[in-house]
Parts: sequence; C-alpha cells; structure tokens
Amino acid sequence: MCGIVGYVGPVNGGRDAKTVIIDGLRRLEYRGYDSAGVAVVADGAIELRKKAGKVADLEAEIAARPLDPSNLGIGHTRWATHGGPTDANAHPHVVGKLAVVHNGIIENFAHLKAELAEKGYAFKSDTDTEVAGALLLDTYTSLEGTADSGDLTRAMQLTAQRLEGAFTLLAVHADHPDRIVAARWNSPLVIGTGEGENFLSSDVSGFIEFTRDAVELDNGQVVTVTADGYEVTTFDGEAAEGKPFRVEWDITAAEKGGFNSFMEKEIFDQPAAVRDTLYGRFDEHGALTLDELRIDASVLRSVNKIIIVACGTAAYAGQVARYAIEHWCRIPTEVELAHEFRYRDPIVTEQTLVVAVSQSGETMDTLMAVRHAREQGAKVIAICNTVGASIPREADAVLYTYAGPEIAVASTKAFISQIVAAYLLALYLAQVRGNKYADEIRAIIDELQEMPDKIQQLLDNAAQIQQLGRDLSGSKSVLFLGRHVGFPVALEGALKLKEVAYLHSEGFAAGELKHGPIALVEDGQPVFVIVPSKRSRHNLHAKVVSNIQEVRARGAVTVVIAEEGDHDVEAYANHIIRIPESAGLMQPLLSTVPLQLFACSVAEARGLNVDQPRNLAKSVTVE
Ligand code: F6R
Repeated sequence: MCGIVGYVGPVNGGRDAKTVIIDGLRRLEYRGYDSAGVAVVADGAIELRKKAGKVADLEAEIAARPLDPSNLGIGHTRWATHGGPTDANAHPHVVGKLAVVHNGIIENFAHLKAELAEKGYAFKSDTDTEVAGALLLDTYTSLEGTADSGDLTRAMQLTAQRLEGAFTLLAVHADHPDRIVAARWNSPLVIGTGEGENFLSSDVSGFIEFTRDAVELDNGQVVTVTADGYEVTTFDGEAAEGKPFRVEWDITAAEKGGFNSFMEKEIFDQPAAVRDTLYGRFDEHGALTLDELRIDASVLRSVNKIIIVACGTAAYAGQVARYAIEHWCRIPTEVELAHEFRYRDPIVTEQTLVVAVSQSGETMDTLMAVRHAREQGAKVIAICNTVGASIPREADAVLYTYAGPEIAVASTKAFISQIVAAYLLALYLAQVRGNKYADEIRAIIDELQEMPDKIQQLLDNAAQIQQLGRDLSGSKSVLFLGRHVGFPVALEGALKLKEVAYLHSEGFAAGELKHGPIALVEDGQPVFVIVPSKRSRHNLHAKVVSNIQEVRARGAVTVVIAEEGDHDVEAYANHIIRIPESAGLMQPLLSTVPLQLFACSVAEARGLNVDQPRNLAKSVTVE
C-alpha cells in the first residue's frame, strides 16, 4: 500500500514542491494513513519533515517548522509493514545526501541490512526502506572514479537489480536538484507530464489537479524525471518506453461534492457508474462489442471452466457473477479468494478462463493469482477500475469498469460496476458460444440499462435507511440473510458494516440458518433479510419468507429488503425497505445499495471516520 508523490518543476518561477506534494498526498491518503512525510531539495541540501499520523499532522508540522521553497521533492503517506507507525519509521528516509520513499516490501532486507551494517551503515528506523536507501547510497558511492561516477540513474538500476519483493522506490539527491529517479517492481507508479514540470505518483489522483496526461510504466523499469521530460530504462540500463495515456476523469470526480464522506458520495455515484460501465459495449441490435477483450472467440469457445479470483468485496461481486455465468453460459464456474487460489494446487488448464476482479488492479494477492493462472496456461481476463494498473497489464485482456475513482476505503460503486462488467462478460461468452439468441441477450441488456434509474429511485429514499442506521447504531451485532444471489449480497452487507462501523456482523445463506446460526438470534437482534423477487423466484421467495418468520419468532428485529408490491413479508417485518421490481439476477444491483447506506450511516452515528477505517488501506499491495 502507501502513497507516493514526486514533483520536479523549473528552478525559477515554478510551483513550490511541498504544496504540490501535500495536495497529492491528501488525495492518496486512502492508500495508507498512519504516517506521512516530505523531503525537498533546497539550496543544495535535503530538508525533511515527517510525522506519525495523517497528512494533516504533517501539515501542522510543516506550519510549525516551515520548509524552504523548492522545485523538487518527494512525499509519502504510509501503511506500515516493516516497523510500527512512528515518526522515525515514517518516509522519506534520508541517508547521506539522499532521500528515498518506498511502497512495497523488500523481502531480502534483513540480508542487505546485515551486509550494509558490516560496511559501517547505521540505521535510524526499523524499515526496509532505509535499507534500500543505504544500498542506493552505497551503490552510488561505489561508482565514484568510474565512467558512471555521479550517475544517480545508474545507481538506481544497480540497486533495483539487488532488491527482492515489491517496490516502487523514488530518490532525490542533494547534488542533483533537477531530477527524481525511480524504480518500479510489482508496485504501482505513473508519471504525470505537464508543461515544464513533471510528476510521479502511485496513481493519477496524486497529480490530477495539475495534469491529465500520464504515462504508464512497466515492471522492471527505472525512470529519471526532470522538469523537461523523462527517460525510461530497464534495470539493465537498456532504453525502454512508457505508455502515454489521457486520464478520462477530472478533479471534481475525486472531491466529496457536498456529501459527508467519500463513501456516501460514491454510493450516490452508482447510477452513473452502471451507466458508464454499460456505455459503448453493445450495438443498436444488442450485440456485444467488447473489442477490448482481445481474446480470440475460438479460445472463448473452448473454455470448459471459469475460475473467478478476487478478494473481499470484489470476491463477493464474483460470487454474484457466478450465478449469471452458469445460468447464461452453462460453464462451470468457481469463485476463489485469490490468496487461497494458488496454494491449493488448483486444476487449471488451457481451457480454463480465469477472471480476476479488482477495483485497484494492484491487490497483490490477486496479482499473484493472475501470474499463477497464466503460468498454468490459462487465459486471464481482468475486470478492473484502474486503467493501466498491474492486474490489467498482466492479464491477457481487460474489461474496465467505469466507476470513476473510488476514494473511500470501503468499496461501493466498484462492487456494483464489477457485477455489471462480469454480466457483460457472461453475455459476451453466451453470444460467442451460441448459448443465447440475440433477442435474449438484448432483453437482458435492456434490463441492465434500466438499473441506473432504479438505483436512483432507491437513493431518493436514502433518508429512511439513514434514519434506520442511526436507530440501530447502538446494536451489538447485526445479521444478514439471503439466498441465491442474495447470499453474496448478505456477505457484502456484513463486510461493509464490519469495516466502517466496527460492528460485529455476519452474512449467512438463509437456508443455513437452521444448521447453526439461528442460535445467535435472541430478543432484539437486528436481522436483515434480502427477499428475492416473488415473480421470478417464486419458490425461493416462499422459503425466504419462512426464514423471516423463523427469526422473528425468536425475537429478532427484522429489516426486510423486498420488492415494491411484495405484501407477503409485511406481517413479519419490523422495518421494510422497498426496492424496485427487477429480474432475479439484477436484484443485487439494487439490494446492495440500502446495505451500503446503512453501514455508512451507522459509522457516522458512531462518530467514526467513514472513509478511512482503522487498520485498513484502500489498495492492499502486500500478500
Ligand atoms: C471492502 C474492500 C476490500 C476490497 C479488496 C479487494 O470494502 O474494499 O475488501 O474489495 O481489498 O480490492 P481490489 O478490488 O482493489 O482488488
């Protein structure tokens, strides 16, 4: 995790580096927020400020001890791995005339530290980053007297060759006030290109205020960035290239827009997220045109098994998608937590299609699962919300969700758009494999196209759910029940409540209730029940209504999420949340929304930081 920013501008008359860096860090804070720091090069020396706590604490530190104006600097917001969240362990780390920031984990750091200690290096922190900084300094020093003397880029290439694990490493040197040198291996890094100024960041939100022109870097590349340009090489020093792209969203998409939290705003973004994810993916006859998939139709026709790999909320989106894929395409489909996948020796062949679902595209567990699947000969399709991230880059093909930047740590609009993208993939498979006629596909697309308006209807009724959140915010635990696609929705509802409201919650398949969990139900226990459509799931509907009766009879306070016009539930519901009518497989796009709103308002009522829950980070780039 961790967020990294670098800025290099013109020596005279440009922006002040610390201001640019602090702005970037504020927007990257979702990546980690237990300490932050900035180093600038001013008058031939490194100036450093760093602090345990949030970026706001760093700003207070800089206000108390101002930094000189500068055209060059690097900054970092941390999610601790090696060493606790203290001032000393905060980045940047200064070693000699160098300052470095790092995202990732250097696995051979203990060995390198011992080697450097023997050479006389002393360490002020417990971090692997300081070791990487010392290695860079040692390498830089070893070049003295050679043709590469004073070449920071060469020193970085040689250092990168020795580091194992995952790293994005940025370095500035007091003797080189015109450049930042960076290396990337298994951790994200993008360049932002401006007029006479350039930026580096973990993702584009770190510089979106200043430029929308960006450049993707590949794994195993080193980049040297000056005010006038950038030069990319491999770790071996061979010339290489980045891939320029234009960021499609602007800064307003990354601002709260009048909502109390990013989470709340992102819940309300969902109609647009669904609309944008559907946009341009089919022609006027309803034929899907997923050109970006770049996998030959003959390969898709030969697929005999699908494995969806993902973590957390993305894995629940995968669980929802499984019902649709199996129903529409008749392909056996498994959903596997990415971190469990490769360790159980899964049966993966060239006929296996692996679908990796990830909002950030940087989740290390999912990335490792992608690599494992490809090594076994499977084709991998990524469903991802972040253009140019590692997972889509390493997959054979990608289907982007167009949810826009998701800033709140708790995933909301990404979940809904992942389901939509996975449904598009399922329909595409059904189309190329001939499982469905064109008019059947068209009918499902029509249903999908109705979803933004239906989600909006629900959001228009947010006040009822927000009030319920406040009323139940004192509960000790909350249970969620669902069947069929309502089951992963129940799991997602429970996860949202755990992570933002720190409230014990569990999701169960409603049919499982009588096999154990019903023992948890006592007087006053809130139980949410997701009721399937009576029209399209008649048998299931009746069974869920019985489940409501069972918990109600044992004293539960029932919160029933049911379609408009479903009167069967009324007698057993303490609270009813109405959702618009929809086809069975479309219902998760609706029934999830009240659960998100509920979790958000419980967290608010408990006075918690909704967007940055404790112990979490947005992008989990460690295994
Ligand atoms: C929960 C949440 C996490 C992520 C998981 C995967 O609200 O956000 O469970 O869904 O860490 O992250 P991505 O989708 O970035 O791979």
